[in-house]
Amino acid sequence: MSKILVTGACGQLGVEIINGLETQYGRGNVIASDINEPGDGLTGVPFEFVDVMNPQQILGIVKKHKITIICHLAALLSATAEKNIDLARKLNIGSLHSILTIAKDEKLEKVFWPSSIAVFGPDAKTDGTPQNSACTPSTVYGISKVSGELWCAYYYNTFGVDVRSVRYPGLIGYKSLPGGGTTDYAVDIYHKAVKGETFECFLKPDTRLPMMFMDDAVKATLDLMNANPDGLTVRTSYNIAAISFTPEEIAASIRKRYPNFEIVYKPDYRQQIADSWPDRIDDTVARTDWNWNPNYDLDTMTNHILDNLSDFWKY
Ligand SMILES: NC(=O)c1ccc[n+]([C@@H]2O[C@H](COP(=O)([O-])OP(=O)(O)OC[C@H]3O[C@@H](n4cnc5c(N)ncnc54)[C@H](O)[C@@H]3O)[C@@H](O)[C@H]2O)c1
Repeated sequence: MSKILVTGACGQLGVEIINGLETQYGRGNVIASDINEPGDGLTGVPFEFVDVMNPQQILGIVKKHKITIICHLAALLSATAEKNIDLARKLNIGSLHSILTIAKDEKLEKVFWPSSIAVFGPDAKTDGTPQNSACTPSTVYGISKVSGELWCAYYYNTFGVDVRSVRYPGLIGYKSLPGGGTTDYAVDIYHKAVKGETFECFLKPDTRLPMMFMDDAVKATLDLMNANPDGLTVRTSYNIAAISFTPEEIAASIRKRYPNFEIVYKPDYRQQIADSWPDRIDDTVARTDWNWNPNYDLDTMTNHILDNLSDFWKY
């Protein structure tokens, strides 16, 4: 029976992936871990304090729970990484290396580790960035993700570690607050709309970025983890895509429900990060290899979030 350890489980993605993993593997077979206290979203989920910067601590929990799969989510996101270069390097690259080593030594069944569209830099094609486009990022976060992807491919090719990865676009959910990324505005904007407040956007109105609703991100993760390994042709990380929009387009989508919603623009250092990323991603290879297909477009995502947000946070 598979037993899964999720690192960074208290983050924006962790809480939602754990729900998906529990549906598939059963409660009790998914162990959440983080350096922070679990919030309400993880009530009833077995939890361990694990600092992924400490390989012995990870190994101890792997042995204690007879873990067979690790879903390694703990990382510093793009905006925070830019302000903490050394920590980003140690956390984002060092912890992945520890987990791949543990997976090899303990003969784990699988590892899932997310990369990001931040692997693409100014040299990549911006509209319809293909799977094998140049990965020459200009950000600390992007550099850490390219390096991680290469380590994943190395451990797969050299030691047979079955590590799988997707390049998530900006992830948009409503069940937890975002953790310091450049696409966080697309989460915060819904909170302001529901509270009837004006939203101050840290990107320019026409900044187009690839995005994805959280339910699609969870679906992509589970679909790839369940895919037949024989069909997987990419062992760095798969491009996946869903929606691509600008701040003024998401504001227009919100105004269909909240006609008086107002947005003002005050670009900061995150504009430069966003400008170095693609507008739209080509995910043909993921669609071919493991039938990737998202369910949400901009308006269906907006409606779903606005229908649920007030209840979730009791606004
Ligand atoms: N959120 C996005 O838009 C997005 C996009 C692309 C890729 N990703 C990737 O997905 C993964 C999860 O992202 P997220 O949005 O949930 O991030 P997040 O910032 O919301 O959560 C990260 C979690 O890691 C934990 N953490 C930090 N340092 C730790 C340590 N030393 N040991 C253990 N836990 C530690 C934090 O407490 C936090 O709960 C990351 O690898 C990220 O790079 C996210």
